[in-house]
Amino acid sequence: MVTLSERTPDVTELIAARGHEQVVFFADRSVGLRGIIAIHSTALGPSLGGIRFQRYDTERDALVDVLRLSEAMSLKASVAGLHQGGGKAVVLLDDPRAARSEAFLRALGRAVHQLAGRYIAAEDVNATQADMDGIALETPWVTGVDVTRGGSGDPSPVTAIGVLHGMHAVGEAVWDTRDLAGRRVVVQGAGHVGAHLVGLLVEAGASVAVADTDRARVERLVAQYGAGVVETLDVDDAIAAPCDILAPCALGAVLTTTSVERLACAAVCGAANNQLLDDAADEALLARGIVYAPDFVVNAGGIINIAQEWAPGGYSRANALAAAAVIERTTAQVLAAAREQAMPTGRAAVALGRRRIAEAGDRRWSPGDPIPLRPT
Ligand code: NAI
Repeated sequence: MVTLSERTPDVTELIAARGHEQVVFFADRSVGLRGIIAIHSTALGPSLGGIRFQRYDTERDALVDVLRLSEAMSLKASVAGLHQGGGKAVVLLDDPRAARSEAFLRALGRAVHQLAGRYIAAEDVNATQADMDGIALETPWVTGVDVTRGGSGDPSPVTAIGVLHGMHAVGEAVWDTRDLAGRRVVVQGAGHVGAHLVGLLVEAGASVAVADTDRARVERLVAQYGAGVVETLDVDDAIAAPCDILAPCALGAVLTTTSVERLACAAVCGAANNQLLDDAADEALLARGIVYAPDFVVNAGGIINIAQEWAPGGYSRANALAAAAVIERTTAQVLAAAREQAMPTGRAAVALGRRRIAEAGDRRWSPGDPIPLRPT
C-alpha cells in the first residue's frame, strides 16, 4: 500500500488541484487526432485560449501542460479586466509543424464546437491562421481567422504596444516619469513582437539594443532605424547588458535565481510568456530591487486584440490598439500592490488575478448565456 504523497496523482486530482471546471479528452481515430481541452474558469465569461500543437513525451505531460496554461489564461484575462475566462487546448502530434489536412482540422473544430462556446479557440505554439480557418469550417467558437472573415489577424503589433504601455507604468514606478525618452532598453528577440516593440521604442526616443539568434532579423532593424539608434547585441550578452529595461521577447524561463544575479537593469518588462522559472526567481528580483513587470500582465495585448473580435461593430485594429492602453493601468496596479505588501510582483499579479475570479463567486458560463458574440 503506497501513501498518497508517494504515488502519482490521479487525473481528477490533477484537475482539481488548480481548480479547473472541466477537462475534455478527445480523439478521432480516422484522422489521427488526439487532444485535451482544459477549461480553468468561466466565472468571468467563456474561456478563451490558444490551441497548442505539440509533441509530448507522455500524455500526462500534455495534461499537466494544458492545466497550467489554461490557469494562466484565466489570470491573464482577469488582470486585463476582460469578461473572459481561461482555457487552452493541446493537440498531441509527432510532427507538430507539418501542415494539417482539412479533415483533421474539421475533426478538431467539431471537438471545440461540442463545448458550445464554453471554450473559444485561438492560435498558440505551432498553430497557424490556416489551422484557425480550418477549425472555423465547423464552429464559430474560434478566433484569429482571416481578417477578411472578421478575424483579428496577427496580434503581435497589439502585444508590442501593450508591452510599451507596461514600460510606461514601469517608468512611473522606477523613475517617476512615464517618459521613455533617453532610456536604454535591451530587447531579447526581434521576432513578431520584438521587432514591433523596437519600432515603438525608437518612436518614444529610447535607445535600443537588440539580440536575436537569427542575426538577419537584428540587421534588418539596424538598417531600418540606423546604427546610431538601434544597436546589435550578442545573444549571450543580452541578459547581463547594462540598461534601464530588459525586454525578454523570445523564450520563457529566462529569469532564474542564477540569471537574476547577472542582470544589470533596473526593470524587466517584455512579451515572452512564462519568464519566471519559478517563485524563487520572483523573490530574487525583489531581493535585488529590480522591478519585474509580470509577463502575463504586460503581454495581454494579444488576448485584448482577440476580444475585440466580438466588440459591437466588429473587429477594428484601431480599437484593439486603443484597448491595449489599459495595460499601463493594470501594470501600475500590480506594481503598487506588490510595493504595498512588500511581495514579489509576480506573486502580486497572480493574487490580483485570482481575486477578481473569486469575486465572481461560483458563476459559470453555460451555452445560451448572453455573451457579446463575435460578428459572423
Ligand atoms: P517569434 O517566434 O516571432 O519571435 C521570437 C524571436 O526570438 C525569434 O526571432 C527568434 O529567433 C528569437 N530567439 C529565439 N531564441 C533566442 C535567444 N536565445 N536569444 C535571443 N533571441 C532568440 O515570437 P513572437 O510572436 O514575437 O513572441 C515572442 C514571445 O512573446 C513568445 O514568448 C510568445 O509566447 C510571447 N507572446 C507573443 C504574443 C504575440 O502576440 N505574438 C502574445 C503574448 C505573448
